[in-house]
Amino acid sequence: MSDILCMYYSRTGNTKQTMEEIASALDAELVELTDGVDRSGWSGWMRSGLDAMRRTTLRNKPFQTERPLKDYRLVILGTPVWAGRCSSIARGFLKEHGKELHSAAYVLLRGSEDKNEEVYEQMDRYTPCGHCAAVSLRRDSVGYAFWQEEFLRQVRISMGWQEEQK
Ligand SMILES: Cc1cc2nc3c(=O)[nH]c(=O)nc-3n(C[C@H](O)[C@H](O)[C@H](O)COP(=O)(O)O)c2cc1C
Repeated sequence: MSDILCMYYSRTGNTKQTMEEIASALDAELVELTDGVDRSGWSGWMRSGLDAMRRTTLRNKPFQTERPLKDYRLVILGTPVWAGRCSSIARGFLKEHGKELHSAAYVLLRGSEDKNEEVYEQMDRYTPCGHCAAVSLRRDSVGYAFWQEEFLRQVRISMGWQEEQK
């Protein structure tokens, strides 16, 4: 059983692909979140943007993990950036379960040059433990592999698997 749980929501597959890579690199469990809403097409895009702006959340569909959330040493939450915020699905997860997390890390997938790093602090409002590592990635950007590897390094250090370079 892994000490790390990777959870994500992905509307168009970018966050899914990245979280699959991260879970594979860390040998972590991987679980997809959904609120069951059809977010495809133009109306799905609009609804997602409005949900993010209004901070509207629905109760997410039940998900299964190998052990209770509090028993993972680290939960990594992956979400697309919507209107400068995390997705309403990630927000819904944090609202419902943020207090159960022992330690958290965030992976943002974005479409613009702007890293939207203020989203980390928005997400921390729901997690008393805060975050030990975070990264904002754009899949087609030149720095993608570099920043993903840097995130993995931060995680390995926080897990005590790798020493920090002096
Ligand atoms: C409603 C909506 C709002 C978005 N707002 C932003 C934004 O504010 N900043 C940004 O960089 N990307 C924004 N994006 C782009 C997504 O974050 C980006 O395409 C991401 O890679 C999608 O991930 P996914 O394929 O896992 O759904 C937005 C996308 C949607 C659907």
